[in-house]
Amino acid sequence: RGRLLSFRRAPRDAHDHDSYLFEEDGGLLVENGMIVAMGDFQAVRADAADDVEVIDHRPHLILPGLIDTHVHFPQMQVIGSYAANLLEWLDTYTFPEECRFVETAHATRIATQFFDEFFRQGTTTAVAYCSVHKASADAFFAESLKRGSLMIAGKVMMDRGAPQGLLDTAQIGYDETRQVIADWHGRGRNHVAITPRFAITSTPEQMGAAQTLAREFPDLYIQTHLSENRDEIAYTCSLYPDAADYTDIYDRYGLLGQKSLFGHAIHLSEREADALSDSGSVLVHCPTSNLFLGSGLFPMRTYQRRDKPLRIAVATDIGGGTSYSMLKTLDEAYKIQQLLGERLNPLESAYMMTRGNAEALSLEDRIGTLEPGTDADFIVVDSAATPAMKLRMETVRSIGEELFLLQALGDDRAIAETYVAGRPMKSVAGGTD
Ligand code: GUN
Ligand code: FE
Repeated sequence: RGRLLSFRRAPRDAHDHDSYLFEEDGGLLVENGMIVAMGDFQAVRADAADDVEVIDHRPHLILPGLIDTHVHFPQMQVIGSYAANLLEWLDTYTFPEECRFVETAHATRIATQFFDEFFRQGTTTAVAYCSVHKASADAFFAESLKRGSLMIAGKVMMDRGAPQGLLDTAQIGYDETRQVIADWHGRGRNHVAITPRFAITSTPEQMGAAQTLAREFPDLYIQTHLSENRDEIAYTCSLYPDAADYTDIYDRYGLLGQKSLFGHAIHLSEREADALSDSGSVLVHCPTSNLFLGSGLFPMRTYQRRDKPLRIAVATDIGGGTSYSMLKTLDEAYKIQQLLGERLNPLESAYMMTRGNAEALSLEDRIGTLEPGTDADFIVVDSAATPAMKLRMETVRSIGEELFLLQALGDDRAIAETYVAGRPMKSVAGGTD
């Protein structure tokens, strides 16, 4: 029981109150990890069994679990590493750090921390890059299975341009990805993603292997990085001289499509944007990372207003990103649009971190919503969690204002509880060491 908020479609503007359902005294009926009824508390209560347990979360807000569509699980210990730009950051901190995941014990420890931290932040689904080591994917998926969460992840494929300890080969990348699929895809709520890191770290042979996997498993997500940084773009294009541009490299290997997620995609040409739009590909905006690494300002409105609009998701990009919180992430996304002279309204931000990201994953019939028949992944949010928030709440007059306050001042402290498949996860963390 609490105040319920769930989006039904993308809000058209800050006053589009038909885009969401808000229930001042709402109830969610949960059975076997699913939401089976949602609406006015008394009505839901009347239809439920007499002995149903009522958990009263009033006056808190109940939202769908937050979704993070691009994150690196082996980068929890490089967040906030001081570097001039993307390529320096990768070489100096990130690649050496990921080498540590050759040790299964290390991967297992960080996987435990990952799930504890994400649930603490109210994020119930993440799309994750593991390291090149198959054992890192095993550790991640095993932990997800234990916790009952819907996660999408992949063993990274990379066969050049990084330390020896971080390289597979075209064949090993292919074989191990197949093994990860066999071991984990569809087990519990786990989904495997085909994950060539980016064109700099995959030879043409390995891109071919990714293409073969994409053909053999057309239902799988594909994730990679695209057009994040000017130096990266120039170097990438020099490695694939036959391609028309960065996007064309992935296109030539059949990697564009409705289940393809392209991290960053800040500096696209019109031709690239057309190709990405025509294929239904998803661009993943990573605001805190783009600011931290000085990569650029994501032209979200320009992309959306095109004759051929682009699909857009939003993500933390930990550890290039600087916050695990999707609230903070949308706060930075807002500021990026401000710098571009554009607006991102509070309803839209809340939509993006829930249903919007679910739609980008074509999973809106399962997550990102409180609709009956979907998975019981939801969060309980306290908009007065800190003295500063409490003070500001005194002058808040609408749900839009409350959402904006949450984004401006809120973080993990505002997440009172996180339910994954109907089970509370924040108050009973899976175990830290
Ligand atoms: N491009 C290739 N690998 C990475 C990574 O780990 N983080 C970011 N931000 N960009 C990348
Ligand atoms: Fe990334």
